[in-house]
Amino acid sequence: MRVTNRSDNNQIWQDLETHACRFSDLDLNRLLADTKRFTNSHLQVEHLLVDWSRQLVDQSIQDSLDQLATNSRVHQFLLSMCRGDLVNKTESRAATHVEQRSLHASDQSLQPMFKFAEQIRNGTLRGHSGKSFTDVVNVGIGGSHLGPELVYRALVQRQGPRLHFLTNTHPAARSEILDGLDPDSTLFIIASKSYGTFETLDNAGYIRQWMIERVPPNADLGNHFIHVTSNPEHITNNETVLRVPSSIGGRFSIWSAMGLAIAIAFGIDVYQDLLAGARSMDIHVLEASDIAHNLAIKLALLAVWNTNVIKTESHLILPYDPRLQLLPAYLQQLEMESNGKSISRDGEPINQHTSPIVWGGVETDGQHAYHQLLHQGTRKYSADIIVTHSASSQNDYSNTEDWILANAVAQSTVMFTGNHVSSEQRFKNIKGRHGSTIFVLNELNAFNLGALISLYEHKVACLGHLWNVNSFDQWGVEAGKRLADDVYGFLHHGEAQNVPPATAALLNKIKKA
Ligand code: F6P
Repeated sequence: MRVTNRSDNNQIWQDLETHACRFSDLDLNRLLADTKRFTNSHLQVEHLLVDWSRQLVDQSIQDSLDQLATNSRVHQFLLSMCRGDLVNKTESRAATHVEQRSLHASDQSLQPMFKFAEQIRNGTLRGHSGKSFTDVVNVGIGGSHLGPELVYRALVQRQGPRLHFLTNTHPAARSEILDGLDPDSTLFIIASKSYGTFETLDNAGYIRQWMIERVPPNADLGNHFIHVTSNPEHITNNETVLRVPSSIGGRFSIWSAMGLAIAIAFGIDVYQDLLAGARSMDIHVLEASDIAHNLAIKLALLAVWNTNVIKTESHLILPYDPRLQLLPAYLQQLEMESNGKSISRDGEPINQHTSPIVWGGVETDGQHAYHQLLHQGTRKYSADIIVTHSASSQNDYSNTEDWILANAVAQSTVMFTGNHVSSEQRFKNIKGRHGSTIFVLNELNAFNLGALISLYEHKVACLGHLWNVNSFDQWGVEAGKRLADDVYGFLHHGEAQNVPPATAALLNKIKKA
């Protein structure tokens, strides 16, 4: 399948540039005054409403974008990915995260995880002294950490072991997590697809020593460690290993045994709800061949419009719900590790921007931190504003829920229309003309969270295809790791052959200080 890039769709790209010039003179307040704008600028899938009324597009721009998607055969790419085609050519792999969460696949492949989680929750599996497990430490980083902690912070836990997340090797991180834990009732999940990530392996070694120093000499620690990996050959003792298919990328692995911590903390039913929510979005995305009504393709096209025509530099993830505090970090990896690329799938240099810088934070806190820059700065950006609002229940916090929703909509509107004041008070002027999309979940539960994550995964896959990059490898992270080994070798063994003089001088200065 020949994938398009600018040269294949020259006329459409020229049309889009022409649209952008025309649109730059439009009065955006008038667009919002259009009684049909919301009707034509939103889609609802299950309990997720997505409104792009405050994006810098009108119908003719969307028609051109839809044509770009059609010409690029984006939907066919999604179907090809979900069929298991080799979409990750540099690693000769498929990308099977969607297949993994399909009903038949997950029922089969996740049974070992479900069984283990149940045994921890019902006390069948206990620690060396016979205590059941009260605390579980997920030892992993990146995609082997972010998904489980995102879900753990988002959902209300009614019963089950407490989760802790150790990602960093810094002594402060280790003591923050381990101090106060009872070694007799703590389970450690060593989560690493490659089983080659320094941080995770170094933490695993430290923890094993930490345990040995705190239990009787002959204690059997076998039940205190479980390994989740795509490379089980690395585990040489008889501790339990749960396998993650190598065709599931780390940033797409929450649907695999990498989600073990979630199943232990919340139970299998809640984890199944997460899968069901993701499947509901899969059905929408894979069945909606009408580009204009495919939510993932719509979000991808808006990202192309903002990144490649409006020329935004960054994209904000702004959850107006502190329970989604980890969503920006999760989506940073999903978006930037997938599409932060500059070589095409054909091995050629890319001739346009790809992933924007993805950042953000919990709101309304951000309104008291970086919104000044957003409203009166010089930078171009787009934003996703995520709101949870249980409109039905008039509960005792509905007023504050309404206040938070009001802020989310107000900020999105000011980003879009700005706030134009008299020339004498230009210091108060807000130019606006930044696009944002509002996502509304009627409730923050496992099903809706699964659907939201699936939507972003499909958007990212569509974007990679539109930008003609491989969204499923991450060669850019290897060089830094190798150089760190060289620098570490200099620091600890004086091996200077791979460390340039300027770097050696800095390191010597630090060591002396
Ligand atoms: O270095 C980046 C990365 O490979 C991510 O893609 C991955 O999620 C993370 O490191 C952890 O990798 P692993 O699960 O193999 O330890």
